[in-house]
Formats: sequence, C-alpha cells, structure tokens
Amino acid sequence: VRVAVIVTAAGSGTRLGREMPKALVPLDGVPVVTHALRGVLAAGVVDEVVVTIPAHSEQDFADAVALVGTDAPVPPLRCVTGGATRQASVAAGLAALGADVDVVLVHDAARALTPPEVVARVVEAVRAGAPCVIPVVPVTDSVVDVSAGVRPVDRGALRVVQTPQGFDRAVLDRAHRHAEERAADEATAATDDASLCAALGLPVAVVEGHPDGAKITTSRDLAVARMVVRDRRSQHPARPPEPPAPPVTLPEASVGPGGPR
Ligand code: CTP
Ligand code: MG
Repeated sequence: VRVAVIVTAAGSGTRLGREMPKALVPLDGVPVVTHALRGVLAAGVVDEVVVTIPAHSEQDFADAVALVGTDAPVPPLRCVTGGATRQASVAAGLAALGADVDVVLVHDAARALTPPEVVARVVEAVRAGAPCVIPVVPVTDSVVDVSAGVRPVDRGALRVVQTPQGFDRAVLDRAHRHAEERAADEATAATDDASLCAALGLPVAVVEGHPDGAKITTSRDLAVARMVVRDRRSQHPARPPEPPAPPVTLPEASVGPGGPR
C-alpha cells in the first residue's frame, strides 16, 4: 500500500494577521509547516508528500522544507500552488499525486504539533478497510445551538474534527470531483475533506485525535503552540543542555592543568 500526504499550506493566515503566510510563521524559530512535516514524517508511514503553497512562494517553502531534516530519509516531496480555498488546494494536491498512490492523508500545515501517533492511527484505520477516517477529540465546553433561539446541545455526542484525515484514494478523488463546483468560493467550499465524503453518503470512521493537534488560527493559538513546544523540550531534551559558558579567560601563564600556579 502506497501512502501519500497532502499538507495544505496555501492559506494566507488572515486571522493570524501576520504579513507572511501562516505556514511560514516561525514557531520556536522554525516555520509552522516545517513542524507539521516533521510530525507527519516521524510516524514513518508516508511514502510521498505534496505541499500546497501560496503562489510565488516557492523559494520560501523550499527553505522551510529543507529544515525538516528528520532522522529517517524524507520521502519524495513536491510543492504545488494551491487554490482560492482549502478545498481547491486539496484538489490541486490530489492532481499532483503519483498514479500508484492507494491511501491519501490530508493534513493542515496549521496543525503544526500533531503527534505522530495520531498519523499512525489514521493510516492504520484506512489500511484496515475504512474508506474515510477522521481523528477527533471531545468537546470540553458547554455548547448551544443558536440557529433558532438558544437550544442546549448534549456535548457528549459531539466531537471536534482534526487532521490528518485519511482516505482510500479513489474515494477522495470521487468526493472532490463531486464537489468541484463548491471549490472556488470560501462561502461554499468545504473546510475539511471527510465532509465531502459524508456528502456522498460514505461512512466516516473516527480514531482518537490529540489536543496538540489543535489548529493554529489566532495569535493566542500560536502562543499556546509555543508553550507546547517548550513543554515537550523540557520533557524530552533533544540533546543535553549546553554547558555553562567558560569563565573569563585568564592569562595562560596563570592557570595550568593543575590549577593556579
Ligand atoms: N489552506 C490552503 N489553501 C487555501 C486556504 C487554506 O492550503 N486556499 C490551508 C492553510 O494553509 C491551513 C489549512 O488549509 O494550513 C487550514 O486553513 P486555515 O486554518 O483557514 O488557514 P488560512 O486560510 O491560512 O487562515 P485564515 O482562514 O485565517 O486566512
Ligand atoms: Mg482559511
């Protein structure tokens, strides 16, 4: 089974409000998209990568990709120009996939810190035969429906949907073709891919997501992501902490291997 991932990074990040595309915004000194690629590749289940990027940003994204540098070899990776909406970008990514791909993951670059085990769970469920798989997390707030008055909703029945979402390739192709006329306009475009499959009446399977898979949308989300990165580093230091800076150097004659003479 050949698995590809489409990493959607072609958005402008209007709600984050930086001058650069959201996927290029630094998080702990490394672009958001670089974090997302590291997480998805660390799962060790992906054979091919397509990143959807904004127009005229090839060099910036090539630089961000060059920083991925996982311990395992990086699979073949291509950047393609996305579209006016996320749905259009995913369609562009799908069109760029190799003919031999059987399973497609679609992952938001903005979910920079999705743990690799979520990626692995999604792929496992697709390989086990589910045509469409979404990672979900419980809703922790009380929820009301305000479409006609205020109606409390049982949050126990609700889930928040994350990415990567996983698909049988033929199913995802069909879902996007079926919804093609919705793709050009944010008002009609889908915000995720499983909803396009559900619109075809296909069953959607769920696996457990992770709070760290939350999407970075606002500057508050970015601040939270920064804390998560720091927290991870303090729990799993990648390398021992730097030794303290050496004391002020004394003239060579005054200090030898045996201490001051
Ligand atoms: N995305 C994309 N192509 C688009 C729009 C969005 O590939 N035309 C990607 C974004 O880069 C992001 C993911 O889809 O990784 C989720 O979208 P969102 O969080 O809405 O990001 P933006 O559209 O960039 O943000 P905003 O809506 O605030 O402008
Ligand atoms: Mg958007």
